[in-house]
Formats: sequence, structure tokens, C-alpha cells
Amino acid sequence: MKLFIDTADLKEIETLAAWGVLKGVTTNPSLLAQVDGDEMSIYRRICELVDGPISAEVVASGRAGMVEEGKRLAALHPNIVVKIPTSAEGLAATAVLASQDIPVNMTLCFTAPQALLAASSGARYVSPFVGRYDDIGNSGIDALREVVEALLGFDSEVEVLAASIRTPIHVIEAAKMGADIATIPPKIFYQMLEHPLTNIGLEKFNQDAAARQARQAG
Ligand code: G3P
Repeated sequence: MKLFIDTADLKEIETLAAWGVLKGVTTNPSLLAQVDGDEMSIYRRICELVDGPISAEVVASGRAGMVEEGKRLAALHPNIVVKIPTSAEGLAATAVLASQDIPVNMTLCFTAPQALLAASSGARYVSPFVGRYDDIGNSGIDALREVVEALLGFDSEVEVLAASIRTPIHVIEAAKMGADIATIPPKIFYQMLEHPLTNIGLEKFNQDAAARQARQAG
């Protein structure tokens, strides 16, 4: 499973990109609202920082507007993926963009039927939201599994991109069930990395290495 980062914060992307683990980036209007700067410049900079699919979401609501905005976004960089919400207008816009070889990430997907429609419209990625399904008392992980299984036999290159990830457990469950990608907020990357036994073990290694060096020197 590939790991993407879910943020528009350039500092966080730069830091996590330096770990060498990022295979792509997803953004959305809410994430962009948390940062300053012109969004086109932000997308361009993200494309410089990470060599992989970079999702940029349309804010237009009608299909013609989505198509026009999607083309403008896609023209920014070959790695841009146009993110479009799951709706009748979104499906229609996706079909148009896909027919012009512009990749689409269909977002705000919660169910397997929605995912099948997205895949059938030509979406390259479909993004089931795990955490937001949990928020309303359902199992986001069970819903994600339904999507993964429903698309198993689908005759296209569509990839399941697990989104709205809130815990490292979400990431692991997505990986175990065979989701293609998880897009992960920065703070979850740090939670994935940290373990007290790793820190304790490293401290002991450092102490022992220093003790040995002192003994050799003396
Ligand atoms: O990629 C979609 C994701 O950002 C939504 O996450 O935490 O706002 O539900 P969240």
C-alpha cells in the first residue's frame, strides 16, 4: 500500500517528504483554508516536493464548471489529479476528464455502490472516508472493506485511496485489507513512527557505544 500525505501545509509536506516515505499528496478545500497563499502556487510547490499523484480539488458545483476547473488544475503539472466530489454532476465531469486522459480522484465516497459508480465513470482513484463514517456511528473500516472488495473484479485501473484517516490503526487495517493507498494527516505519521521501546533501545545503544569508545580511547 502506498502512503500519501493529506495536507496543504508545505512545511509538513517538506518534512515528511524528507523521510522518503511519501508517494503522493491529497488536499481539499478545508485543508487549503488552513494555510495562506495562492492555491495554484501551493499546488506547484507540492509538485516540486513530492514526485507522485497530487490531488487538487475543484470547488465548482456544475459539471461544466468542474470540467473547466479540472482542466485548469491539470494543466499546472503532469502529476496533478483532479479531485471531484461524488455526485451526479461529479460523475459526469469525471467521465469527460477521463476521456481526455485527465486522472480524477472521486472524493467523499462512503459506500460500495458510490465507489462502483465512480469507477464506472472513469475515476482513477476512489476515496472512501473512514473517520467521517466512524463519526456518525458506523464502521468506516467495514465500509472501506466493502469498497475494496467491490472493486476487486472491476475491469479498470481504479485504485482505492483510504481517506479521512484518524489513527495508525486505520492505516494498518487499510493495508491489511488491500487498499491501494492511504492518505494520512501529518500527525498520524508521527504516531506511526513513535514507540517508547524504540526510544529506550536507542538510548541504550548510544550509551553502550559511548562506553565502548571511552574504553577503547583509555
Ligand atoms: O482526504 C479527505 C480527508 O482529508 C478528510 O479527512 O479528517 O477531514 O475527515 P477528515
